Amino acid sequence: MKPEVQPNKIVVLSGSGVSAESGLPTFRDSGGLWRTFSWQEVASPEGWKLRPESVLAFYNERRLLAWQARPNAAHTAIASLEAAYEVVVITQNVDELHERAGSSKVIHVHGELAYARGTSETPKRYRIDGNPISMGQLCEDGTQLRPDIVWFGEEMRFFEEARMHVATAARVLVVGTSLSVYPAASLVKAARGRAKKVLVAFEVNKPPYGFTFMRGKATEIVPALATTWLKEAAQPAG
Ligand code: OAD
Repeated sequence: MKPEVQPNKIVVLSGSGVSAESGLPTFRDSGGLWRTFSWQEVASPEGWKLRPESVLAFYNERRLLAWQARPNAAHTAIASLEAAYEVVVITQNVDELHERAGSSKVIHVHGELAYARGTSETPKRYRIDGNPISMGQLCEDGTQLRPDIVWFGEEMRFFEEARMHVATAARVLVVGTSLSVYPAASLVKAARGRAKKVLVAFEVNKPPYGFTFMRGKATEIVPALATTWLKEAAQPAG
């Protein structure tokens, strides 16, 4: 049996495009990170084995930029929805701009820049905020610290929890993701037929079935959408 849809619940699935207007690059757009860097070299266990110092340098730069960036109008609008709805943000982003805008429930399925961890089977996780990780900096278990990021070939986090949230949402907003990385992209399939479903981006591989594609800037479209949804919440049902 399918779980019940909760009329007051919004799930936001976000990707790097929601942080683009805060000055953080996306991955696949022109100027995107994977146009300049090879993900095999900087975002895979194989790259880490070959050249850990390059991996650390790549993420140290990402962390510094993310630490200096500020939430934009899209992050703030998403947080404002909590005035009338239960909102769960499921993000592929490794920055903390949703939290800093005021969102209280954020699930990071690809890890977080603000944490480092060891490289043993059962590593400890440390909060490092905007600070760099250096070669020779060790976890308590004696292993080299690495970014607490999910790399290609590693398992996405919280998949089942995220899927259940999408499956029980009455409104689903997908914003700033090309939906090209799996299994995160497959979460949209859990959205229910009668849920309101909106996708905000410039380009996507293929808009998922049942979603209204609103092409344009997250900082323009998301605040307008949030205003509409907040008004709808204030109207008596019927
Ligand atoms: P992509 O670079 O694949 O997609 C960015 C999306 O954001 C595209 O659909 C753009 O059209 C859209 N976009 C860009 N600027 C925007 C703006 N100002 N307003 C609205 N939309 C905008 O990035 P992601 O989908 O986030 O994973 O990439 C997913 C994963 O691939 C990342 O989490 C990362 C990467 O490899 C790992 O590192 C494991």
